[in-house]
Amino acid sequence: MPKMKEIGVAVLGFGTVGAGVVETLQKNGHLLADRLGIRLVLRGVADLDLTTDRGVKVDPALLTTDGAALIARPDVQIVVELIGGTGVAKQFILQALQLGKTVVTANKKLLAEHGEEIQRVADEHQAEILFEASVGGGIPIIKALREGLCANRIERIYGILNGTCNYILTRMEEEKLPFAEVLKAAQAAGYAEAEPSLDIDGHDTAHKAAVLASLAYGGHVPLAKIRVTGIRHLAAADIAYAAEMGYRIKLLAIIQGDANGIEVSVQPTLVAHSHQLAAVGGVFNAVLVQGDVVGTTLYYGRGAGRAATASAVVADLADAALNLQAGGRRRDLSAVQSRAPVAFRDPGEIVARNYLRFSMRDKPGTLASVASILGRHQIGIDSVMQHEAPSPADYVPVIIVTGPAPEREMDAALAEIAATSGIVNQPAVRYRIEDFD
Ligand code: HSE
Repeated sequence: MPKMKEIGVAVLGFGTVGAGVVETLQKNGHLLADRLGIRLVLRGVADLDLTTDRGVKVDPALLTTDGAALIARPDVQIVVELIGGTGVAKQFILQALQLGKTVVTANKKLLAEHGEEIQRVADEHQAEILFEASVGGGIPIIKALREGLCANRIERIYGILNGTCNYILTRMEEEKLPFAEVLKAAQAAGYAEAEPSLDIDGHDTAHKAAVLASLAYGGHVPLAKIRVTGIRHLAAADIAYAAEMGYRIKLLAIIQGDANGIEVSVQPTLVAHSHQLAAVGGVFNAVLVQGDVVGTTLYYGRGAGRAATASAVVADLADAALNLQAGGRRRDLSAVQSRAPVAFRDPGEIVARNYLRFSMRDKPGTLASVASILGRHQIGIDSVMQHEAPSPADYVPVIIVTGPAPEREMDAALAEIAATSGIVNQPAVRYRIEDFD
């Protein structure tokens, strides 16, 4: 029997995901070889720390602290970057691409911040970069967008893309606890980072949204164009009021495009309890993609963690191996990525319903004044909720769910309400409602 073709793989970064990749190659390497007709051979693993136990047995001869030398080895065709960040990870990725090697990475921050440069270097050297693990962990959402849905114009993508935030929101709702308390418990349980701001302030979701938007609409999507609100300031009271009104609050990446341009935003968003995205609890991720041919599709799974992320990385290794065997990239994204920059919609024109919580003066006529200002801005009211105060108070919470309105009108109405004396004693709390129609 002829010897099976071998393709050499180097893993940079022997952390949680790196160890998961090594373990998956050991566990399912034979299965992959059967499926691909190619054997993926681990040539080395580079990390500055070679003493920590990674929970996986690896031949010590494969371990090195010299990433650059490992990349340069002629028997390495695919370089897996799992270091993270934008420093040495970027250097190694550029080195590998300049040598014409295929790169597989999970590094959404690097792709979101330097994707344009990295793609350019890849194109210059006819090298390929694959990044399935960068969004949605084990969910094959990149493959779905690049391949499964390539017959479609993408109309919308909604993503629950950060497990830490979804876990915190789920516990806040279920246990009626404030954000700070749940964050502390999540950190103690290892579900949230000691320095959690990348996750809770929405930036990790924005990095992933940039990757998805770039794939869906072509061209570079600068992070500066993505409007981002995280969950740090979300009050348990709003989760409870939203629940009473039939909604759950999720940190959503919203990506949508039409002839007027695209919107990419990240924000706490009200989702009807009956919608599938509302049922995505705990650390899980989900992505809804609406295409003009296929309609609505939904993807669900673990968005992070050793095994789920390794599953995505190794799937990229399989694709990379097949592409190398075929002598090139099966899907040349450079044609798409080099199109004219994506046009962004004017945020003021984005139309949505809104959840508003006012701290409203408890005096006859106040609600009528608010309704009148909203009305003057052509903003309808879908529902209003106020509870009897347990004891007399000067200001009481009143929740208003508005009809669809452009953001410009919503901003103007809320500014007018805040500026009119005797109505509210603090700015209204406002969250978008998505109806998914
Ligand atoms: N920190 C991310 C999350 C996973 O909580 O989902 C890595 O992107």
